[in-house]
Amino acid sequence: MKKEKISSVAVIGTGYVGSSYAFALMNQGIVDELILIDVNKEKAIGEVMDLNHGKVFSPDSTNILFGEYKDCADVDIVVICAGANQKPGETRLDLVDKNLIIFKTIVENVMASGFNGIFLVATNPVDILTYATWHYSGLPKGRVIGSGTILDTARFRYLIGDYFKIAPKNVHAYIIGEHGDSELPVYSSADVGGIPILKMIERQEQYKKEDLDEIFINVRDAAYKIIEGKGATYYGIAMGLARITKAILNNENSVLTVSAHLDGQYSEKNVYMGVPAIINRSGIREIVELELNEEEQQKFQHSADVLKAILAPRFE
Ligand code: LAC
Repeated sequence: MKKEKISSVAVIGTGYVGSSYAFALMNQGIVDELILIDVNKEKAIGEVMDLNHGKVFSPDSTNILFGEYKDCADVDIVVICAGANQKPGETRLDLVDKNLIIFKTIVENVMASGFNGIFLVATNPVDILTYATWHYSGLPKGRVIGSGTILDTARFRYLIGDYFKIAPKNVHAYIIGEHGDSELPVYSSADVGGIPILKMIERQEQYKKEDLDEIFINVRDAAYKIIEGKGATYYGIAMGLARITKAILNNENSVLTVSAHLDGQYSEKNVYMGVPAIINRSGIREIVELELNEEEQQKFQHSADVLKAILAPRFE
């Protein structure tokens, strides 16, 4: 009988985000095999032990193993969570040079294993580090994906849902651009339960555009507040990474706002940015081009310029 290929993911970096992501995968029964890799071997082994001890409580038997770069050869997805994270008062872009050095080593070691799957990048600044992963790996751009604005979009949908008292899953609204201070909301194509959000504002006087603008500010600045409070963010991004992983492994063709390589879409080229993209077993099947209004297009271009100013001196 033909042995069915098991699904497998390798996580590089078992800090807050990597271990929370592993916990999310295990509790949702998304993957058959999960390999944890960290430069601090004892940390990775401790996480493997702690997670396996909860196996009896999880829905499916995810096989969780300690591994090293050579074990990436046949995995479907390598998820990179390793690197320095924001300290209070730091922006995501402040992390770029220290994390680029770390990423060059990681990607070269993974590729040396013979890996030929999909990279999923979480470490910040995620758009820059996803570009770097594509550059260092030489893999096709559709197989190098960043978490992008998946968490920003989730925060936006949660807060808009709370405002209109509608479940977040019935709110269709995107945050696009840099996963960072220059990101932007797309109101022009947003709807709540099928009703355009701007129509909701027009029709019912208790709803105000200023409230929506305040919601966006809260989304954009959420990470700073969480970091001030608990020192780091990890549960939200971990669940976003698990969502992308599920869409890939289940060949879903779901639309998620990930960091994708633009090749003319939204009038931008040679940059990775958060945009809605169709995700399936091949990685990014295609990028969804929203009809942005003039203000949204200008903000998107500004966001692209912010990222290109970081890329240019480092990758030209
Ligand atoms: C945040 C991190 C993942 O936005 O950048 O919480």
